[in-house]
Amino acid sequence: MNPYVTGSTIKNLREKRNITQETLGEEIGVSGKTVSKWETGKGLPDISLLEPLAKSLGISLIELLSGDSIENKNPSSNLYRSKFYVCPICGNTIHSMGEIVASCCGITLPPLEAEDPDEDHAFEIERVEDESFIKIHHDMTKEHFISFFAYVTPDQFILKKLYPEGNAEGRFPLRKTGYLYAYCNRHGLMKQKILGINPKSK
Ligand SMILES: [Fe+2]
Repeated sequence: MNPYVTGSTIKNLREKRNITQETLGEEIGVSGKTVSKWETGKGLPDISLLEPLAKSLGISLIELLSGDSIENKNPSSNLYRSKFYVCPICGNTIHSMGEIVASCCGITLPPLEAEDPDEDHAFEIERVEDESFIKIHHDMTKEHFISFFAYVTPDQFILKKLYPEGNAEGRFPLRKTGYLYAYCNRHGLMKQKILGINPKSK
């Protein structure tokens, strides 16, 4: 996380609001020239100005300091908007129902971008009774391993934590259509759509 607000953050947020440096300055009691100095890195706003500045830019103080604006209007509306954050230092995993400003070990974590699994991370899915057995044939060493599986439907979220020296496998009730996720500590987040299983059909 940035220790303090940056010029580029102020500039981006001001431009998003579509107001001039003068207007922003007027709103918080400084000149447009002062705002220009902040934006070009020739000065920093006094700490007493941070709250009015965040208010004028239409974001919270924490968003201003982190340099991210949170655009979720209704983050709990749908688990399909799930975001995952993994700390590269300690491995902590954070799941959120929408984008958040997440930090761990003193750094801001970006929301992970999920990709289609490549052949080294392909899901093997086998139906076992009314559950599905998920497996990835992958290294499980401390240096390179799958650290979790997650199964997400619009109203359900299941996380299976995996550990080095274990197996990259787990059982999930994949009855509803949803998304299966896997996270490799080296290759990142993989995501695959899974069509629901009708328990009555074979
Ligand atoms: Fe991998």
